[in-house]
Amino acid sequence: MKIETVFNHYKKIEEILRCPICKEIINIVHPASATCINGHCFDCASFNYVNFIPNQKPTNYTKELFESRRIVLENNYYQPLLNELLRIIESYKKDEFTLLDVGCGEGYYSRAIHAQFDATIIGFDNAKEAIKLAGKSDNSIYWFMADLTNIPLKPKSIDFICDVLTPSNYQEFERLLSDDGICMKVIPGEQYLKELKKMVGLSTDGYTIDAVTDYFKTKMDLIDVKNIKYTKEVNDDDKIHFAKMTPLMLNREITELEVKELKECTFDFMILVGRIKEK
Ligand SMILES: C[S@@+](CC[C@H](N)C(=O)[O-])C[C@H]1O[C@@H](n2cnc3c(N)ncnc32)[C@H](O)[C@@H]1O
Ligand SMILES: [Zn+2]
Repeated sequence: MKIETVFNHYKKIEEILRCPICKEIINIVHPASATCINGHCFDCASFNYVNFIPNQKPTNYTKELFESRRIVLENNYYQPLLNELLRIIESYKKDEFTLLDVGCGEGYYSRAIHAQFDATIIGFDNAKEAIKLAGKSDNSIYWFMADLTNIPLKPKSIDFICDVLTPSNYQEFERLLSDDGICMKVIPGEQYLKELKKMVGLSTDGYTIDAVTDYFKTKMDLIDVKNIKYTKEVNDDDKIHFAKMTPLMLNREITELEVKELKECTFDFMILVGRIKEK
Protein backbone atom coordinates (compact mmCIF):
# COMPACT_ATOMS: atom_id res chain seq x y z
CA MET A 1 0.00 0.00 0.00
CA LYS A 2 1.31 3.49 -0.86
CA ILE A 3 2.55 5.40 2.17
CA GLU A 4 0.44 8.42 1.11
CA THR A 5 -2.69 6.22 1.19
CA VAL A 6 -1.78 4.94 4.66
CA PHE A 7 -1.27 8.55 5.84
CA ASN A 8 -4.65 9.68 4.47
CA HIS A 9 -6.42 6.67 5.96
CA TYR A 10 -5.20 7.03 9.56
CA LYS A 11 -5.55 10.82 9.40
CA LYS A 12 -9.33 10.21 9.37
CA ILE A 13 -9.31 8.83 12.94
CA GLU A 14 -6.57 11.10 14.30
CA GLU A 15 -8.95 12.92 16.61
CA ILE A 16 -9.78 9.80 18.66
CA LEU A 17 -6.19 8.57 19.06
CA ARG A 18 -4.34 8.88 22.36
CA CYS A 19 -0.68 8.21 23.10
CA PRO A 20 -0.30 4.92 25.02
CA ILE A 21 2.78 6.29 26.83
CA CYS A 22 1.87 9.82 27.99
CA LYS A 23 -1.90 9.75 27.16
CA GLU A 24 -1.64 12.99 25.19
CA ILE A 25 -3.20 13.67 21.81
CA ILE A 26 -1.72 12.19 18.66
CA ASN A 27 -1.26 13.61 15.16
CA ILE A 28 -0.72 11.60 12.02
CA VAL A 29 2.33 13.20 10.42
CA HIS A 30 4.16 12.79 7.09
CA PRO A 31 5.27 10.48 5.68
CA ALA A 32 3.13 8.20 7.92
CA SER A 33 3.53 8.02 11.66
CA ALA A 34 1.42 8.63 14.72
CA THR A 35 3.24 11.19 16.86
CA CYS A 36 2.12 12.69 20.18
CA ILE A 37 2.82 16.21 21.36
CA ASN A 38 5.63 14.84 23.59
CA GLY A 39 7.38 13.27 20.61
CA HIS A 40 6.43 9.61 21.15
CA CYS A 41 6.33 8.24 17.65
CA PHE A 42 4.59 5.11 16.30
CA ASP A 43 5.08 3.87 12.78
CA CYS A 44 2.20 3.38 10.36
CA ALA A 45 3.56 0.45 8.37
CA SER A 46 3.04 0.13 4.65
CA PHE A 47 1.21 -3.09 5.58
CA ASN A 48 -1.53 -0.74 6.79
CA TYR A 49 -1.42 -0.76 10.59
CA VAL A 50 -0.14 1.53 13.33
CA ASN A 51 2.37 -0.14 15.61
CA PHE A 52 1.69 1.14 19.14
CA ILE A 53 3.91 -1.55 20.70
CA PRO A 54 7.13 -1.38 18.69
CA ASN A 55 9.11 -3.50 21.16
CA GLN A 56 6.57 -6.30 21.27
CA LYS A 57 8.11 -9.78 21.44
CA PRO A 58 6.55 -12.59 19.39
CA THR A 59 3.56 -14.04 21.27
CA ASN A 60 2.45 -17.70 21.41
CA TYR A 61 0.21 -17.04 18.45
CA THR A 62 2.16 -17.86 15.27
CA LYS A 63 1.73 -16.84 11.65
CA GLU A 64 0.75 -20.43 10.84
CA LEU A 65 -2.00 -20.32 13.49
CA PHE A 66 -3.52 -17.14 12.04
CA GLU A 67 -3.27 -18.43 8.45
CA SER A 68 -5.14 -21.60 9.43
CA ARG A 69 -7.61 -19.56 11.46
CA ARG A 70 -8.33 -17.40 8.42
CA ILE A 71 -9.05 -20.48 6.26
CA VAL A 72 -11.43 -21.94 8.85
CA LEU A 73 -13.19 -18.60 9.42
CA GLU A 74 -13.49 -17.74 5.73
CA ASN A 75 -14.95 -21.20 5.08
CA ASN A 76 -17.94 -20.13 7.20
CA TYR A 77 -17.63 -22.46 10.19
CA TYR A 78 -18.22 -19.45 12.48
CA GLN A 79 -21.02 -17.90 10.38
CA PRO A 80 -23.83 -18.54 12.94
CA LEU A 81 -21.80 -16.72 15.60
CA LEU A 82 -21.10 -13.86 13.18
CA ASN A 83 -24.80 -13.64 12.26
CA GLU A 84 -25.75 -13.27 15.91
CA LEU A 85 -23.15 -10.52 16.42
CA LEU A 86 -24.53 -8.70 13.34
CA ARG A 87 -28.08 -9.00 14.75
CA ILE A 88 -26.98 -7.51 18.08
CA ILE A 89 -25.24 -4.60 16.35
CA GLU A 90 -28.30 -4.01 14.17
CA SER A 91 -30.60 -3.85 17.19
CA TYR A 92 -28.51 -1.36 19.21
CA LYS A 93 -26.78 0.74 16.54
CA LYS A 94 -27.15 4.44 15.87
CA ASP A 95 -26.82 5.96 12.38
CA GLU A 96 -23.10 6.37 12.66
CA PHE A 97 -20.99 4.31 14.96
CA THR A 98 -17.44 3.27 15.79
CA LEU A 99 -16.71 -0.36 16.66
CA LEU A 100 -13.57 -1.71 18.30
CA ASP A 101 -12.63 -5.35 17.64
CA VAL A 102 -10.48 -6.33 20.64
CA GLY A 103 -7.91 -9.06 19.90
CA CYS A 104 -9.11 -9.06 16.29
CA GLY A 105 -6.65 -11.74 15.16
CA GLU A 106 -6.40 -11.81 11.37
CA GLY A 107 -9.50 -9.60 11.15
CA TYR A 108 -12.42 -11.83 10.14
CA TYR A 109 -15.09 -10.20 12.36
CA SER A 110 -13.93 -6.65 11.54
CA ARG A 111 -14.16 -7.35 7.82
CA ALA A 112 -17.55 -9.02 8.07
CA ILE A 113 -19.02 -6.24 10.23
CA HIS A 114 -17.65 -3.62 7.86
CA ALA A 115 -19.22 -5.42 4.90
CA GLN A 116 -22.61 -5.09 6.60
CA PHE A 117 -22.48 -1.63 8.17
CA ASP A 118 -21.21 1.75 7.05
CA ALA A 119 -19.25 2.28 10.26
CA THR A 120 -15.77 3.14 11.50
CA ILE A 121 -14.16 -0.18 12.43
CA ILE A 122 -10.92 -0.41 14.41
CA GLY A 123 -9.29 -3.81 14.97
CA PHE A 124 -6.29 -4.36 17.18
CA ASP A 125 -4.18 -7.23 18.44
CA ASN A 126 -0.85 -7.59 20.22
CA ALA A 127 0.35 -10.31 17.84
CA LYS A 128 2.28 -8.84 14.91
CA GLU A 129 1.59 -11.81 12.65
CA ALA A 130 -2.14 -11.29 13.13
CA ILE A 131 -2.11 -7.57 12.38
CA LYS A 132 0.12 -7.97 9.34
CA LEU A 133 -2.43 -10.38 7.84
CA ALA A 134 -5.32 -8.13 8.87
CA GLY A 135 -3.70 -4.99 7.43
CA LYS A 136 -3.07 -6.64 4.07
CA SER A 137 -6.65 -7.92 3.91
CA ASP A 138 -8.61 -4.66 4.06
CA ASN A 139 -7.75 -1.01 3.44
CA SER A 140 -10.88 0.53 4.86
CA ILE A 141 -10.55 -0.75 8.44
CA TYR A 142 -8.13 0.84 10.94
CA TRP A 143 -5.64 -1.70 12.33
CA PHE A 144 -3.38 -1.31 15.36
CA MET A 145 -0.74 -3.38 17.07
CA ALA A 146 -1.76 -2.57 20.63
CA ASP A 147 -2.30 -4.15 24.01
CA LEU A 148 -5.76 -4.43 25.51
CA THR A 149 -4.50 -3.16 28.87
CA ASN A 150 -3.48 0.17 27.28
CA ILE A 151 -5.64 0.93 24.24
CA PRO A 152 -4.45 4.03 22.31
CA LEU A 153 -7.85 5.69 22.07
CA LYS A 154 -9.53 8.60 23.86
CA PRO A 155 -12.26 8.12 26.50
CA LYS A 156 -15.82 7.61 25.20
CA SER A 157 -14.62 7.23 21.60
CA ILE A 158 -16.22 3.81 20.95
CA ASP A 159 -19.88 2.76 20.51
CA PHE A 160 -19.40 -1.02 20.28
CA ILE A 161 -16.74 -3.25 21.71
CA CYS A 162 -16.55 -6.69 20.12
CA ASP A 163 -14.42 -9.18 22.05
CA VAL A 164 -14.42 -12.62 20.44
CA LEU A 165 -12.62 -15.36 22.38
CA THR A 166 -10.09 -12.82 23.67
CA PRO A 167 -9.23 -11.70 27.23
CA SER A 168 -10.94 -8.51 28.43
CA ASN A 169 -9.88 -5.43 30.34
CA TYR A 170 -13.07 -3.90 31.72
CA GLN A 171 -11.32 -0.83 33.07
CA GLU A 172 -10.28 0.04 29.52
CA PHE A 173 -13.67 -0.95 28.10
CA GLU A 174 -15.44 1.32 30.57
CA ARG A 175 -13.09 4.19 29.71
CA LEU A 176 -13.62 3.81 25.96
CA LEU A 177 -17.35 3.19 25.70
CA SER A 178 -19.65 6.09 24.87
CA ASP A 179 -22.60 6.63 27.24
CA ASP A 180 -24.92 4.20 25.42
CA GLY A 181 -22.02 2.02 24.28
CA ILE A 182 -22.41 -1.74 24.00
CA CYS A 183 -19.89 -4.44 24.89
CA MET A 184 -20.27 -7.85 23.23
CA LYS A 185 -18.09 -10.53 24.78
CA VAL A 186 -18.00 -13.98 23.19
CA ILE A 187 -16.89 -16.80 25.46
CA PRO A 188 -16.46 -20.46 24.58
CA GLY A 189 -19.12 -22.82 25.96
CA GLU A 190 -18.36 -26.14 27.59
CA GLN A 191 -18.70 -28.11 24.35
CA TYR A 192 -16.66 -25.76 22.14
CA LEU A 193 -14.38 -27.79 19.83
CA LYS A 194 -14.87 -30.85 22.05
CA GLU A 195 -13.81 -33.19 19.22
CA LEU A 196 -10.46 -31.41 18.90
CA LYS A 197 -9.97 -31.39 22.66
CA LYS A 198 -10.67 -35.14 22.80
CA MET A 199 -8.12 -35.71 20.04
CA VAL A 200 -5.33 -34.23 22.17
CA GLY A 201 -6.61 -35.58 25.46
CA LEU A 202 -7.88 -32.30 26.89
CA SER A 203 -10.78 -32.90 29.23
CA THR A 204 -13.89 -30.73 29.06
CA ASP A 205 -14.95 -31.90 32.54
CA GLY A 206 -14.96 -29.24 35.19
CA TYR A 207 -14.88 -26.35 32.72
CA THR A 208 -17.56 -23.82 33.51
CA ILE A 209 -18.33 -20.44 32.07
CA ASP A 210 -20.03 -19.21 35.25
CA ALA A 211 -16.89 -17.53 36.58
CA VAL A 212 -16.47 -15.45 33.38
CA THR A 213 -20.16 -14.49 33.38
CA ASP A 214 -20.13 -13.59 37.09
CA TYR A 215 -17.04 -11.44 36.62
CA PHE A 216 -18.62 -9.70 33.62
CA LYS A 217 -21.65 -8.89 35.79
CA THR A 218 -19.46 -7.25 38.42
CA LYS A 219 -17.99 -4.95 35.75
CA MET A 220 -20.89 -4.29 33.35
CA ASP A 221 -24.68 -4.15 33.39
CA LEU A 222 -25.62 -7.39 31.63
CA ILE A 223 -28.47 -6.57 29.24
CA ASP A 224 -28.65 -9.69 27.10
CA VAL A 225 -27.22 -13.20 26.78
CA LYS A 226 -27.23 -15.33 23.63
CA ASN A 227 -26.32 -19.00 23.45
CA ILE A 228 -25.21 -20.41 20.12
CA LYS A 229 -24.55 -24.12 19.67
CA TYR A 230 -24.20 -26.15 16.48
CA THR A 231 -22.19 -28.95 14.92
CA LYS A 232 -20.64 -28.74 11.46
CA GLU A 233 -19.12 -31.40 9.30
CA VAL A 234 -15.44 -30.66 8.65
CA ASN A 235 -14.31 -30.79 5.00
CA ASP A 236 -11.25 -32.94 4.36
CA ASP A 237 -9.18 -29.94 3.20
CA ASP A 238 -10.00 -27.97 6.35
CA LYS A 239 -9.12 -30.69 8.90
CA ILE A 240 -5.46 -29.78 9.19
CA HIS A 241 -6.38 -26.10 9.64
CA PHE A 242 -8.70 -26.96 12.54
CA ALA A 243 -5.78 -28.70 14.18
CA LYS A 244 -3.55 -25.65 13.72
CA MET A 245 -5.92 -22.73 14.31
CA THR A 246 -6.31 -22.81 18.05
CA PRO A 247 -3.95 -22.14 20.95
CA LEU A 248 -5.37 -25.35 22.52
CA MET A 249 -3.11 -27.21 20.15
CA LEU A 250 0.10 -25.31 20.85
CA ASN A 251 2.95 -27.71 21.61
CA ARG A 252 0.79 -30.77 20.97
CA GLU A 253 1.76 -33.29 18.34
CA ILE A 254 -1.10 -34.53 16.20
CA THR A 255 -0.60 -37.23 13.62
CA GLU A 256 -2.07 -37.08 10.14
CA LEU A 257 -4.15 -40.12 11.01
CA GLU A 258 -5.67 -38.32 14.02
CA VAL A 259 -6.44 -35.27 11.88
CA LYS A 260 -8.30 -37.49 9.40
CA GLU A 261 -10.47 -38.78 12.25
CA LEU A 262 -11.96 -35.32 12.74
CA LYS A 263 -15.33 -35.71 11.02
CA GLU A 264 -17.25 -32.88 12.66
CA CYS A 265 -16.78 -30.07 15.14
CA THR A 266 -19.03 -28.65 17.82
CA PHE A 267 -19.31 -24.88 18.19
CA ASP A 268 -20.65 -23.62 21.48
CA PHE A 269 -20.61 -19.94 22.49
CA MET A 270 -22.18 -17.53 24.87
CA ILE A 271 -22.40 -13.85 23.94
CA LEU A 272 -22.61 -11.50 26.92
CA VAL A 273 -24.02 -8.11 25.98
CA GLY A 274 -23.42 -5.31 28.45
CA ARG A 275 -23.38 -1.58 29.07
CA ILE A 276 -21.28 0.49 31.43
CA LYS A 277 -22.69 0.22 34.94
CA GLU A 278 -24.92 3.08 36.03
CA LYS A 279 -23.16 5.05 38.74
C1 LIG B 1 -8.39 -16.98 20.33
S1 LIG B 1 -7.73 -15.60 19.48
C2 LIG B 1 -9.19 -14.83 18.82
C3 LIG B 1 -8.89 -13.95 17.64
C4 LIG B 1 -10.13 -13.41 16.90
N1 LIG B 1 -10.96 -12.61 17.78
C5 LIG B 1 -10.90 -14.57 16.32
O1 LIG B 1 -11.93 -14.95 16.90
O2 LIG B 1 -10.44 -15.12 15.31
C6 LIG B 1 -7.29 -14.47 20.80
C7 LIG B 1 -6.61 -13.22 20.27
O3 LIG B 1 -6.36 -12.33 21.36
C8 LIG B 1 -5.10 -11.71 21.12
N2 LIG B 1 -4.60 -11.21 22.43
C9 LIG B 1 -4.27 -11.93 23.52
N3 LIG B 1 -3.84 -11.11 24.51
C10 LIG B 1 -3.91 -9.83 24.02
C11 LIG B 1 -3.58 -8.54 24.56
N4 LIG B 1 -3.09 -8.42 25.80
N5 LIG B 1 -3.77 -7.46 23.79
C12 LIG B 1 -4.25 -7.58 22.52
N6 LIG B 1 -4.57 -8.78 21.95
C13 LIG B 1 -4.39 -9.89 22.69
C14 LIG B 1 -4.26 -12.83 20.51
O4 LIG B 1 -3.12 -12.37 19.83
C15 LIG B 1 -5.27 -13.49 19.58
O5 LIG B 1 -5.29 -12.92 18.31
ZN1 LIG C 1 3.22 10.48 24.21
